[in-house]
Amino acid sequence: MELPIKNKKVFIHSGAGLSQESGIKTFRDENGLWENHRVEEVATPEAFSLNPDLVYRFYNLRRQQLYQEVKPNTAHQALAQFQKKWQEQVFFCTQNVDDLLERAGCLNVHHMHGELSKMRCLKTHKVFDAPISFTRENQCPCCAEESNLRPHIVWFGEIPFHLDKIQKELLDCDIFLSIGTSNQVYPAASFIQLAKENGAYCIEVNYEPTALSSLYHKSHYGRAGEILSGVLEELTSLL
Ligand code: APR
Repeated sequence: MELPIKNKKVFIHSGAGLSQESGIKTFRDENGLWENHRVEEVATPEAFSLNPDLVYRFYNLRRQQLYQEVKPNTAHQALAQFQKKWQEQVFFCTQNVDDLLERAGCLNVHHMHGELSKMRCLKTHKVFDAPISFTRENQCPCCAEESNLRPHIVWFGEIPFHLDKIQKELLDCDIFLSIGTSNQVYPAASFIQLAKENGAYCIEVNYEPTALSSLYHKSHYGRAGEILSGVLEELTSLL
């Protein structure tokens, strides 16, 4: 197979399936709940204004799990190795709010749905490293007031981060590799179309087929921790 190489750029897009083998639950488990909550209860601006304590508690628990219980898996490590080899030819965009890619050694990861390890001032929009737990009683580092801090997470109905940069990289990439996403949440689910229309060779790594699998040039089904390093090796030989 001859690839339409322009600048040898690889756009790597990941979702919850990448971190599943680290012990973080994916969003669309069979019972339709996320860690025992409906998303509307914990992941919307409305939920935060109606029941902030529940939302703080929910993200504090996610952060405790992230800091104390989980670590990068072999798929995160394979991606870090791949970036070490191909450097700035690799662009990372993730829907995941965990920091497991960074902890595996990946650099310049674009977290389009925010980061669990950060918090933001509601007044000034300044972003800070988050302690393991915070509530509305914590004073904001910039304005020294209570009730001004929120998780630095993109909730449903909010605009994802880094969209301009992401779009530019999608138009520019030669290879689009998607890992562990159900392709159900937009705009992330539209990335494959944009990359493909602009000539990228599109590869999917997922546990099972998704609604958009037929769009990819090649799909690999299985656990990312088990199959991703082989897929990256194959890619390396093509680059
Ligand atoms: N390896 C590869 N794929 C896996 C694995 C694994 N070990 N485990 C699960 N998967 C696949 C599932 O089959 C599923 O298709 O990963 C996908 C995860 O899909 P979702 O749970 O829908 O997660 P994601 O696509 O990242 O969700 C997007 O939705 O709730 C919002 O903001 C949240 O970023 C999230 C967004």
